[in-house]
Amino acid sequence: MQVRDLNDGVIPVFLPVFPSSEKIGFYIDEATRSGQFSNGGPLVTRLEERLAGHFNIPASRVAMCSSGTAALEGALATVSSAGSPVHLPSWTFTATPGSALRAGLQPTFVDVDESQRADFPADTSLAVDVLPFGARADWYRSGAPRQTVLVDAAASFDACRDFAFPEDRKVGVIVSLHATKALPVGEGGVFFSNDEAWVAEFRRWSNFGMWGSRVSQIPGTNAKMSELTAAVAHASLDAWPAQRLQWLELRQRAQEISSSMGLTAAGVESDLAAPYWNIQLEDQAARTRLESLLQVGGVETRRWWGDGCHTMPAYHDIPRGRLDRTEGYAATVLGLPFHLGLKSSDFNRIRTLLERFLDDGEL
Ligand SMILES: Cc1ncc(COP(=O)(O)O)c(C=O)c1O
Repeated sequence: MQVRDLNDGVIPVFLPVFPSSEKIGFYIDEATRSGQFSNGGPLVTRLEERLAGHFNIPASRVAMCSSGTAALEGALATVSSAGSPVHLPSWTFTATPGSALRAGLQPTFVDVDESQRADFPADTSLAVDVLPFGARADWYRSGAPRQTVLVDAAASFDACRDFAFPEDRKVGVIVSLHATKALPVGEGGVFFSNDEAWVAEFRRWSNFGMWGSRVSQIPGTNAKMSELTAAVAHASLDAWPAQRLQWLELRQRAQEISSSMGLTAAGVESDLAAPYWNIQLEDQAARTRLESLLQVGGVETRRWWGDGCHTMPAYHDIPRGRLDRTEGYAATVLGLPFHLGLKSSDFNRIRTLLERFLDDGEL
């Protein structure tokens, strides 16, 4: 795997890694030999089979896509009719509400709970459940069964291993394969479900609304994954077992630092490989001070989900109730550098700056 070399002394908040051109080339040669570069070629088909093994479901329930965002839109467009209501959190990346609007649905923003997961009303018929920052799906909200759930598991590739579907509802899941995610492909996504008909409809949507004929049966788009992207995905998947261990080692290091300082790690379980190190500060002023201190010390940070989607002009018209927790997270969560290029000296610098921040009594 290759990591970009940086010499400016700043620790970037994220640094994408990519399989070597030699490893990708091995699969591209295969595409060249097959003479097929898109339209469900052999590399995409085999990728669906390999990912089905990871999710532990039949390959007929897995469909590749051009991006995680397109997968969200396609999943929503094929599970409900235009104008249908859908509930989703504001505490997410802009792709979630944007896809719901593009699918022609009528979203409502809901607040999140103490684990940053959406709190849905009991009568929700369609919900988009966002797994924050690589978290695992759990179904403890099963007291309020909904007919259909689309899980936005954009960063949860590792957490989707042996995915445990609940028995009482239709569930679709999207995972992003963007360059900043755990299984980096550049741009790409995957949709899988416990409902084979939903996946078949999704495939049609991603191929102009047609499959097996040249007649569009539903309004669709072109959101297929090409064989060239699939070549990168295969090479990434080959590197995944070793990389997963690297992610876990880094997470352990990050957690040691957070917990030795009594900082609340607003993140995922320690047994999951996910590309985020978020901490939660006491209040907004403390976060602003820490951001400045880290910036001066050459450490990049990011407010990954900004002020919450409900504050964005594109979503002003989306109805919402009280979003107290969302606003709380938006004001206090801060993303620290976390990527496979992090060195021991980087962790030491971050630790020293955090110590200085705490010694100043700023928390
Ligand atoms: C929660 C969430 N949903 C959806 C997406 C979109 O995925 P993609 O970048 O593959 O379109 C992202 C990407 O960061 C995300 O964080």
